[in-house]
Amino acid sequence: MSGFWNAWVWVLTLGTLAGCLWLLQALTTKRKEKRPAEKSTTGHVWDGDLVELNNPLPRWWLWLFWITGIFMIVYLVIYPGLGTFAGIGGWSQTSQYEAEMAAAEKRFGNVFAAFSGVPLPELETDPDALRLGRNIFLNRCATCHGSDGRGAKGFPNLTDTAWLWGDAPDTVIETITNGRTGMMPALGPALGEQGVTEVIAWLRALPKLPASAAADPAGLAPDVAAGRQKFLSFCIGCHGADAKGNQILGAPNLTDTDWLHGSTDADIRDVLMNGRTNQMPAQHDYLTPDRIRVLAAYVLSLGNSGGAQP
Ligand code: HEC
Ligand code: HEC
Repeated sequence: MSGFWNAWVWVLTLGTLAGCLWLLQALTTKRKEKRPAEKSTTGHVWDGDLVELNNPLPRWWLWLFWITGIFMIVYLVIYPGLGTFAGIGGWSQTSQYEAEMAAAEKRFGNVFAAFSGVPLPELETDPDALRLGRNIFLNRCATCHGSDGRGAKGFPNLTDTAWLWGDAPDTVIETITNGRTGMMPALGPALGEQGVTEVIAWLRALPKLPASAAADPAGLAPDVAAGRQKFLSFCIGCHGADAKGNQILGAPNLTDTDWLHGSTDADIRDVLMNGRTNQMPAQHDYLTPDRIRVLAAYVLSLGNSGGAQP
């Protein structure tokens, strides 16, 4: 907070407080002066004889206001409320959050620590671990990957056998712990509209062609052969000569039926023209290593079962 805004908060808060207390004081004095005068009215008269009395506030009511004012002063001294002044009580949202997290970790940490020595393949069949993993998944992962783990456009399906980064236990733990960023460059400018059409023709033909087609273009339709040429120049560094992808880069297999960003020609054209930067957020700030292991076991159990756990 800059010096100006700091001062602004101080002046506004204390000014309002002082104003309220002054008003209260002024009204109280008025009440004493009026006493024990005959009943004063506001001067409003209805139906000839109905008048509105102008009685002072009851004392207990007035005192409530004073107590509120005093409470405000004490509060602003102890707690942060005045700009950058932290209060003499040393309280902060962060310190309270950390204290509560530490208390929760003390209570629940042991539950997860009990699984820390168990190899992941074993955890994948342990109903207790899977139940705990599922709870974390619903809390932290379901918003993007779906409560059944089947994902959505742009968010990988975790229940199938197609993996961007790989399904080795350590790889999945790494993916969850530190996150991943999949970077498909925008190649529209390099390929041109026509080039993109040709590359798509090549991608469509590829699954039906023998493996030798990548090396030998003989007998290919002209647009497929042109697409192959462009694919070999622009794409193999990441997707490989056989277009089966590269899990070190998170580059997907382009020969299967699993399309992260959609399977129509228009979807693929959009990816090629505009590229994609797709991010899996790191979890190390939110989940302990023990929790991540249990969660990884749950995720792998989804893939192994071919569907969501009940
Ligand atoms: C904000 C959305 C979001 C959340 C929340 C999220 N993910 Fe992801 N996740 C993604 C995206 C996007 C990718 C794909 C990254 C890429 O394209 O390389 C991904 C990728 C993954 C992968 C790699 C899949 C593969 O094919 O290799 C795994 C495993 C994964 N997420 C698990 C999780 C788990 C477990 C959680 C809960 C802690 C989680 N994700 C939370 C968006 C999310
Ligand atoms: C720098 C490495 C790199 C290059 C070069 C590259 N790609 Fe990609 N491509 C990726 C990555 C990484 C992804 C995954 C993006 C994501 O995580 O969402 C991807 C995604 C795609 C997809 C979407 C796949 C799906 O499942 O939806 C298509 C299609 C694709 N690339 C085709 C190509 C073609 C064709 C070329 C060459 C003209 C090419 N890529 C060049 C890295 C690359």
